[in-house]
Amino acid sequence: MELKQGIETRRSIRSYTEQAVTAEQIEEIVKAAQLAPSWKNSQTARYYAILDPALKERIAAEGTMQFSKNMQNIRSAAALVVLASVEGIAGYNPDGGFTTALGTHWQSFDAGIACQTFCLAAHDLGLGTLIMGIFDPEKVAELAGLPEGQHVAALIAVGYPAVHPDAPARKPLSDVLVIR
Ligand SMILES: Cc1cc2nc3c(=O)[nH]c(=O)nc-3n(C[C@H](O)[C@H](O)[C@H](O)COP(=O)(O)O)c2cc1C
Repeated sequence: MELKQGIETRRSIRSYTEQAVTAEQIEEIVKAAQLAPSWKNSQTARYYAILDPALKERIAAEGTMQFSKNMQNIRSAAALVVLASVEGIAGYNPDGGFTTALGTHWQSFDAGIACQTFCLAAHDLGLGTLIMGIFDPEKVAELAGLPEGQHVAALIAVGYPAVHPDAPARKPLSDVLVIR
């Protein structure tokens, strides 16, 4: 798939077929996501791929703050990826202080770039994804088995799309672009 076409046709998918997603597919996607740029190439994104249906169900039931739409999104998808971030590196000096006035901002920034790269790589394999920001970070970290020093940056549902939604409208270019 051409890059521009992939960017244009990727959609958030909220309904999936029952077709399984394999560990090999996840490995291929994460290899591509690893090519995302990061603060000083520090590569602080971590991926916890939940393929076990019982564990995925526990995250849906206990980790979504009872937000029923995300519960259903996770139940529908064959796989769930818990995207985590190693703390205290992106944006930090070796002495532990911040390098810029933006403080911890760069941790989430790097996770976001990794997240979209992951979603585009999945799309290239014919898989749909949904980034989810509404979840209980402590519960998900516990269920996914994150070590100390990492926090959950986002959840990503992964599976074969059962729907092909149109792109939600984007703002006019003049609202988002300033050329001086
Ligand atoms: C940081 C972030 C958090 C999001 N959280 C959720 C969520 O919790 N549940 C959901 O259904 N969609 C969620 N979305 C998906 C957005 O609603 C979606 O990207 C947006 O409507 C544009 O649609 P598109 O991805 O198909 O272009 C999230 C997207 C992002 C980037």
